[in-house]
Amino acid sequence: MKVLLIGHGAREHAIAEAITRSVYAPKLYAICSSKNPGILKLCRETGGKLFKGDENSREFVSKIVSERSFDFVFIGPEEPLFHGISDTVEKMGIPCIGAKEKLAEVERSKAYMRRLMWKYKIPGRLKFIAFKDLRDAITYIEAYAESVAIKPARQAGGKGVKVISDFQAYLKDEKQKVKLAHAKDVVERLMSAYDDIEDRILIEEKVEGPEYTMQCFTDGRTVLPMPAVQDNKNAFNDDIGPETGGMGSISGREGLLPFLTKEEYGESVEIVEKVVHALHKETGERYHGLIAGQMMLTDKWGPTIIEFYSRFGDPEAVNVLPILETDMIDICEAIISESLHKVKLEFRDTATVVKCVAAWGYPNYRDLAKGHPVHVDESIPEKYGCRLYYGAIDIDEKGQMISGGSRLIEIFGEAETIPEASEKVEKSINCIQLTDGWRVFHRSDIGTPELLRKRIDLANLVRMLYHYRKEKGLIGIDIDWIPGKGKIVHEY
Ligand code: GLY
Repeated sequence: MKVLLIGHGAREHAIAEAITRSVYAPKLYAICSSKNPGILKLCRETGGKLFKGDENSREFVSKIVSERSFDFVFIGPEEPLFHGISDTVEKMGIPCIGAKEKLAEVERSKAYMRRLMWKYKIPGRLKFIAFKDLRDAITYIEAYAESVAIKPARQAGGKGVKVISDFQAYLKDEKQKVKLAHAKDVVERLMSAYDDIEDRILIEEKVEGPEYTMQCFTDGRTVLPMPAVQDNKNAFNDDIGPETGGMGSISGREGLLPFLTKEEYGESVEIVEKVVHALHKETGERYHGLIAGQMMLTDKWGPTIIEFYSRFGDPEAVNVLPILETDMIDICEAIISESLHKVKLEFRDTATVVKCVAAWGYPNYRDLAKGHPVHVDESIPEKYGCRLYYGAIDIDEKGQMISGGSRLIEIFGEAETIPEASEKVEKSINCIQLTDGWRVFHRSDIGTPELLRKRIDLANLVRMLYHYRKEKGLIGIDIDWIPGKGKIVHEY
């Protein structure tokens, strides 16, 4: 059996490991834009090969696919999906795990996703307004002083989301200035890289609460959920610093998180199911691959959608794949034959923590983080029962590992409890160094009792408000008071 994996990060290293653990002993081939040392090793050990090249190029991928008879292709990141690589592969008669271009729209375009949720009245939707033109967005911001989230309308590698509350009247003008400056930055800088989408900017109602990711396998008919995972986006301890792709993540026993109840987990899965079925109604296509709800517990809906991923999250994939007990090839084959309902998806019942290590400069000054020689001692995580996944590390012509501009490695640990897993990972963190002395950093607070307490307290607060609203029949309802007119009730 031959499997071709597309993608080059730690997420893809974890996918590669899950595929090669299979009892079917597949040969692993990979298309990677950089030579990920972990994926390269697995390709060599299984008798496959790594092809360095453009993961988003239909020509390059078609050439590799036409040269060998792969049993299927697995696409890891979102950009190849947005570039129609899944459609290209399937047109060549090779099954593909990865959403077709039309279906990956649920991640690529936040406006499409919101419109879909409103059209099908799916719970967990937020009020939003999308603009094609910066001037209209500015007019809107100038006319309405409210708490909002301002986002690029396209998935832009997790960049550019700013949440601005507008409660303090004395700061109204300053907040207005921040909103206008951010809207301008989103449209003129971030979105200028993309000419494949008409909507440029999205303004959404602001919500607050702890976030988590609900990753699921789907064949377009059945949705099989994995353990819920919480990622930590800010670069530094205590949730400060710029937003990154994620600095580390946790998952708990029984698939739950310390702040997520079984009922909330079930409601989150139902939302993902409803979206998968709505996508089928809209496009006529069955979704084959991964879909993940990036969710927040809010006082509005309980589980609420912030965005969708048409793939595994990164680092969230690294929490779940090492503890996956069902054979990954069986899952992939069931997705291809649309018989996922027959698969029993099982994970080891354990708590997990993943921490990412990045070079100074990430995420805002990636050029500074790039190009440093890397040394990794794999025996250190091994000593503490942890696993190491390679991320943004390339191998140069001399065989030297060189840092890229993103997260370099991700270390996975598991234990009875999240804090114990966190301690194990901490002991392994010094397994990586940049030998020219450039510094690396990570978040030591992920999985600690203090940070868990903070998330639990926030969840309890929003849950209390949510239950109050529910008791009063206020879910899906907004009430305004207009002087002279009285109470206006909007249903949505
Ligand atoms: N962890 C966030 C992402 O995968 O986009």
